[in-house]
Amino acid sequence: MPSHLEIEHLSKHFPLRSGLFGGHGGEVRAVDDVSLTVERGEILGLVGESGCGKSTLSRLVMQLIPPTAGTIRIAGDTLTGLPAGEVRRRRRDFQMIFQDPYASLNPRLTIYSTLAEALRTRHPRLSGSSLIDSVAALMDRVGLDPGFMRKYPHEFSGGQRQRIAIARALAPEPQLILADEPVSALDVSIQSQILNLLRQLRRDLGLTMIFISHDLAVVRYIADRIAVMQAGKIVEIGEADRVFHEPTADYTRTLLAAIPRIASR
Ligand SMILES: Nc1ncnc2c1ncn2[C@@H]1O[C@H](COP(=O)(O)OP(=O)(O)O)[C@@H](O)[C@H]1O
Ligand SMILES: [Mg+2]
Repeated sequence: MPSHLEIEHLSKHFPLRSGLFGGHGGEVRAVDDVSLTVERGEILGLVGESGCGKSTLSRLVMQLIPPTAGTIRIAGDTLTGLPAGEVRRRRRDFQMIFQDPYASLNPRLTIYSTLAEALRTRHPRLSGSSLIDSVAALMDRVGLDPGFMRKYPHEFSGGQRQRIAIARALAPEPQLILADEPVSALDVSIQSQILNLLRQLRRDLGLTMIFISHDLAVVRYIADRIAVMQAGKIVEIGEADRVFHEPTADYTRTLLAAIPRIASR
């Protein structure tokens, strides 16, 4: 069986604009010849400093931007180079969760409307009481009281809003979740609740996940394996405990040294 996600020699270079008249300013190698696999049901943690290319890598996997080079396969099927309509159809199978749930939720839509719309991408005919039941079930799954489905995003706390964003990501019944810094904007006390929710969802739904953070301690808490990214390249990848306790790359040691003492015990 092929791995759930296979990334081969993936690159994304952005042109650098230099000066007023354009000119040839070179390029940023945001993602630079990355190869990795993620197994079904696995949580791969992707860690590295701001600007190392983590979000670009996830946008490539989501097919939101075209790669400069390389291939992406999901369950053995090559995604790169598919027609737009086909990409849209398949995008239901992989969903993203972002750092700032407030920015990613429409403030004018109730939770019901947001989740109903997302549910309909998979089940267009869902309506009436069965739609309400499905919204309630989704809210329940992410630890939200379904009694609040007629409320608006601003009526919730940051942690609750992230739960709404997670529910919306789950609505199309994806198999792969890309979570890009999903707890970075949350209070530390709330972070572990959201991390535990993601772990539970993985367990209950058999989800495959790429969990992105600049914080190695957070990644270690949730990930089975950790990939360490620096300047567009994966400099180390392995079992989470091994990477944490016996890093092989100098750069991983630098990240470890930056973790506050209490978190690294
Ligand atoms: N659309 C873009 N155009 C030009 N450069 C970009 C674009 N998106 C990202 N970059 C550059 O690519 C590099 C990686 O960015 P990003 O993937 O956002 O890193 P991270 O998520 O790890 O902070 C950065 O140097 C960033 O400035
Ligand atoms: Mg980013």
